[in-house]
Amino acid sequence: MIGAPRVHLRSTDSTNERAKELALAGAPHGTLVTADEQTAGRGRQGRAWAAAPREALLMSLVLRRVEPTLPLAAAVAVCDALPVDCEIKWPNDVWHERRKLAGILVEGRLQEGWAVLGIGLNVTTTEFRVELSGIATSLRLAGVEYEVEALLPELLAALERRLDAPVAELLAAWSERDALRGERVRWDAGEGTAAGIDESGALLVDTPEGRVTLDAGEVHLLREREGAG
Ligand code: BTN
Repeated sequence: MIGAPRVHLRSTDSTNERAKELALAGAPHGTLVTADEQTAGRGRQGRAWAAAPREALLMSLVLRRVEPTLPLAAAVAVCDALPVDCEIKWPNDVWHERRKLAGILVEGRLQEGWAVLGIGLNVTTTEFRVELSGIATSLRLAGVEYEVEALLPELLAALERRLDAPVAELLAAWSERDALRGERVRWDAGEGTAAGIDESGALLVDTPEGRVTLDAGEVHLLREREGAG
């Protein structure tokens, strides 16, 4: 079972950083780090991820069986576990009613067979930093009351299922929740209409010049299409 052993910290810089340390020290597959508060929470592409103490689920898992589809599987699992309708904004932001509810950050050394899967989920937040207002949301703002800790069992069970799911099943589940399909998207080198993802998780975009594929590691969509966290 993933989620054990578990370390819970009152305050730490980043649960991903703690989980990486544990991974390098030999922690087993499924080791979980959670925290009430992060002082230097990290997001994708060098962004910060901030949440007030005990208002968000902050968790990182050490994984030693790592598929390339891990970021996609994690987003689908978060959607499975949540008690509200969710969509996924490529590559793996979880949205509720076009606002970001959860963010996912995969780090580590996939070529060495381990990764850290970090998830931040806004649970009881009602006020966000000014630059996130209109962009971020929480379960409470979605009308659902939950204790942060109460979400964990369902989320771990969903992750367990989706991390081992066949790729075709995963891609189908991801596509059903695709928030960008049919939308105009812009990135620093062009613009077009989102047309789903391929088996590697790259975004397919139809442009007047033909179909292009965008890699999540190299490309980010321009601000107005992005759900910051
Ligand atoms: C993103 O949306 O850009 C990813 C956000 C990931 C945030 C989580 S919170 C728990 C874990 N620890 C971190 O420092 N980041 C992830």
